[in-house]
Amino acid sequence: MPAIVVLGAQWGDEGKGKATDLLATTDQIDYVVRTSGGHNAGHTIVVDGEKFATHLLPSGILTPGCTAVIGNGVVVSPEALFRELDALAARGVDVTRLVVSANAHVIASYHQTIDKVTERFLGKNKVGTTGRGIGPTYADKVARVGIRVADLFDEKILHAKVEGSLDVKNQLLAKVYNRRAVDVDAVVDELLAYADRLRPLVADTSLLLNQALDRGQTVLFEGAQATMLDVDHGTYPFVTSSNAVAGGVCTGAGVGPTRIDRVIGVIKAYTTRVGSGPFPTELFDSDGEKLWKIGGEVGVSTGRDRRCGWYDAVIARYASRVNGLTDLFLTKLDVLSSWEKVPVCVAYDVDGVRHDEMPMTQTGFHHATPVYEHLDGWWEDISGCRAFEALPANAQAYVRALEEMSGTPIWGVGVGPGREQILSVPH
Ligand code: GDP
Ligand code: IMO
Ligand code: MG
Repeated sequence: MPAIVVLGAQWGDEGKGKATDLLATTDQIDYVVRTSGGHNAGHTIVVDGEKFATHLLPSGILTPGCTAVIGNGVVVSPEALFRELDALAARGVDVTRLVVSANAHVIASYHQTIDKVTERFLGKNKVGTTGRGIGPTYADKVARVGIRVADLFDEKILHAKVEGSLDVKNQLLAKVYNRRAVDVDAVVDELLAYADRLRPLVADTSLLLNQALDRGQTVLFEGAQATMLDVDHGTYPFVTSSNAVAGGVCTGAGVGPTRIDRVIGVIKAYTTRVGSGPFPTELFDSDGEKLWKIGGEVGVSTGRDRRCGWYDAVIARYASRVNGLTDLFLTKLDVLSSWEKVPVCVAYDVDGVRHDEMPMTQTGFHHATPVYEHLDGWWEDISGCRAFEALPANAQAYVRALEEMSGTPIWGVGVGPGREQILSVPH
């Protein structure tokens, strides 16, 4: 399996870091590549009881012998990049195997400022962004006024580009948002300060990865954010600003779709969401609080509480479709121990009409209420189980039911945060 994609099938925080780490340590992965998003991501990896969180860096940075790659589709804050590298190095991680695309766009401090003022301006309609400058940086990329990594190595070009990028923004900041205009020279100095440290890491990552695949090496593309946060296929406008679906891997890495062999969707045994936007199975009762508490549902990047709800098979089917999933990795099954019945959403009621598939319009999705099937629960602590057959019969039946409803085989089940807390599902 030379090219594998691991991506989120819900609204993020499904356990992509754990799935990536698991594959990287068991399947001899040569490269782990991020292709979209930036340091808005927070991926947790637990190794021998020690907890690590990666944000901008691919989780493969933690795997000895694996090269971590930041692809052209990622938005890179040099400040966040070196902060994260230094923090990992201080914990003894070898961070020398990192390559950054020359074409990745750069997040400068003004992007973060604009992210924050825009959210403030939106008031109750705010997206609930991570405030990392992600949206404004992608907006600049599409508007063709972005700064790319390679621009940091030519002061003249950098100055001209920053000037061009701030031209209209400074008018906006001063006249609409009532903020001080940003000084071009200060931004150029801020970015140039990272140039020397960045230069040796930079390469043509599309060439690098395609050559690796030609040699028969294994490349894992580690998704960030998730299907329902994708700018095209998610719950727009309550989404991130990049393509988190499988298609985004091709544009974000410079590899063609014919090279991808396997697309794994990581999905929780229930659902969570951070930030604003519709969420049909969201719970506002003691069950929601119990999921939040047992699941430890607090954001890794922002420390915000995650909204919690039951598993949504409509979303699972949708994610399978828009990503062409080959299989699912079901995480956090252990969290569901101790419910008499576990409701699972099998369809939506939209203004009195049953929908087995995702409603076509956002208005439809906003009106969707879940149609539940109530599956039998189990009481046993399953975090010590290491074989599917060791799970209580009702837990096995829950996994099989989800598989059937989602229309995609489940190859693995997570029963705890640790690397070893995983079961493979027989087929
Ligand atoms: P990511 O952004 O998709 O990588 O996911 P996060 O790291 O933000 O959130 C997933 C959380 O669930 C982390 O705290 C993981 O350590 C934890 N986790 C992953 N898989 C499992 C599992 O099977 N069971 C339990 N209890 N926790 C898990
Ligand atoms: P991982 O990779 C969960 C959400 C934010 C907000 C919306 C837009 O850890 O799964 P942004 O800052 O990207 O413009 O915010 O997207 N969001 C995430 N939610 N997990 C993430 O990443 C997220 N990255 C962004 O909360 O609702
Ligand atoms: Mg996360």
